[in-house]
Amino acid sequence: MIPLTVNGETTELDLPADVPLLWALRDGLGLTGTKFGCGVAACGACTVHIDGEAVRSCQVAIGDVWGDVTTIEGLGTPDNLAKLQQAWIDHQVAQCGYCQSGQIMQAASLLAENPAPSDDDIDAAMAGNLCRCGTYPRIRAAIKTAATQMSEG
Ligand code: FES
Ligand code: FES
Repeated sequence: MIPLTVNGETTELDLPADVPLLWALRDGLGLTGTKFGCGVAACGACTVHIDGEAVRSCQVAIGDVWGDVTTIEGLGTPDNLAKLQQAWIDHQVAQCGYCQSGQIMQAASLLAENPAPSDDDIDAAMAGNLCRCGTYPRIRAAIKTAATQMSEG
């Protein structure tokens, strides 16, 4: 049994230790907001946080998880969205939506480290998160809006 704390709840998974965290989240825990894109750390669709750090969950075995996991489902709730999620809605960032939970988790990690990122900071932090629909300008705008709102409390 592998213990795992996800979105504040600790559970034990009856899975081999080498199962990727992405599969454990989706198939083991039913948290399907985190997406499978490439499986080789090349797209960012599977991005979650471990102790606040953005990681590619397709590349982390559950036996190697070193801290608390947060997924898109744990960032905010429908009744209490994170400012970043609200900014995403306000800017209507998503097109097909497939990449977006990974984009938001990556952006959340950026804002935790750098509350007032420049365009270059955003581009550098988000470079590994691909969007086939080309929503990059709206992603950048939403991050800037969220940064402003977070600075205002
Ligand atoms: S599915 Fe993990 S980086 Fe693409
Ligand atoms: S919104 Fe379609 S891949 Fe990003």
